[in-house]
Amino acid sequence: MDMEQIRRVGIAAAFNGGKVLREHFGNLRSVRKKGAIDLVTEADIQSEAAIIDTIARAFPEHAILAEESGPHEGGGGRWIIDPLDGTTNFAHNLPLFCVSIAFAANEEILAGVVLAPLLGELFVAVKDQGAQLNGAPIFVSATPTLADSLLVTGFPYDHATIFDRMMGRFGRCLTAAQGIRRLGSAALDLCYVANGRFDGFWEQHLQPWDTAAGFLVAREAGARTSVFSGAPYAIESDEIVSTNGAIHDELLNLLK
Ligand code: IPD
Ligand code: CA
Ligand code: CA
Ligand code: CA
Repeated sequence: MDMEQIRRVGIAAAFNGGKVLREHFGNLRSVRKKGAIDLVTEADIQSEAAIIDTIARAFPEHAILAEESGPHEGGGGRWIIDPLDGTTNFAHNLPLFCVSIAFAANEEILAGVVLAPLLGELFVAVKDQGAQLNGAPIFVSATPTLADSLLVTGFPYDHATIFDRMMGRFGRCLTAAQGIRRLGSAALDLCYVANGRFDGFWEQHLQPWDTAAGFLVAREAGARTSVFSGAPYAIESDEIVSTNGAIHDELLNLLK
């Protein structure tokens, strides 16, 4: 596997998706609802098309899993794509959103690219090669305890079935930590754990395209990542806890 080529194509695809998002930002014509509060715009669709086109030109044989068009059959590797993570922010003209692209082989994530086009931030990680923000190495924070931590979480669109437990966890973390934020992009949440802006992140009811790229960026920056039970995170996990490591057990305990 030529990981340098994978990395280059992943970055090129992210920039092509990001260009579409920049063009549509602030002048959306249509916002459709997939669910009561789950939106999709022409920016999501066109960004995804640009990303898939870039990848398919370089690796026509590879499989793809993309949020808006679903699975595309193939072999030799699989690209996992969120063409716009943070659609609700985007639809409200809030520039906190990104393109998230991961590459995996045999269910192992080997590369992750997360681009926030309006913030000018590109996070890249290749397995065993570290993580970078705009080319410079990044590392998780050294915050030793939850009491000193700034945490981030997200609320899934379909929160009805987990509402009480979700709010219970939120309340316990709010009491124990220095602060909690809710940015609206799971991929950025993970990247911001990677470069130490946040000390920990947790969320449930996520999809592979929300977490796959950010997981690797965080892991390569030194993060510890698991599901709520403490078992390892895998691509198909629908929940994630990612921290600087030092506060992981303390946070897991509050999420029980
Ligand atoms: C959403 C964002 C959000 C998270 C939701 C995701 P989308 O993705 O990552 O932060 O709380 O659970 O579905 O729909 O903006 O790609
Ligand atoms: Ca979505
Ligand atoms: Ca998403
Ligand atoms: Ca999306």
